Amino acid sequence: MAIVSLTRVVHFSASHRLHVRALSGAKNRALFGKCNNPAGHGHNYTAEVTVTGEVDAATGMVFNLDMLKKILNDTVLKRLDHRNLNVEVTAFRKLNPTAENIAIEIHRMVQKHLPKTLKLEVKLFETPNNSVVYRGEIK
Ligand code: NI
Repeated sequence: MAIVSLTRVVHFSASHRLHVRALSGAKNRALFGKCNNPAGHGHNYTAEVTVTGEVDAATGMVFNLDMLKKILNDTVLKRLDHRNLNVEVTAFRKLNPTAENIAIEIHRMVQKHLPKTLKLEVKLFETPNNSVVYRGEIK
């Protein structure tokens, strides 16, 4: 069976503040720069969500794109778009909303809706030049 990857892109805008309470103000500013601004600041994020699996012999598809679109609407857009991540997203009440952690959260939300047979990868761009990838791997 042929294994194919299917990607859908979703854009969202959100604000955040990166801050580690255990560190001093100076260390936080040095570590996170603009992202440590006390009142927060925003990013226009792009998430590339890729599912990989066997091409179904009957349909010729790996996964239904309309379903993937609906899943991303119900998870990424509904929960993250135009939100203050630190305040409005439960996962980030205590966890720093870095690109890494946002990618992990998107992976967690989307994975719940997918068949276990599909592999999921989330590539998250915080800026056009900076991105992270999470493939569900833990150590
Ligand atoms: Ni930032």
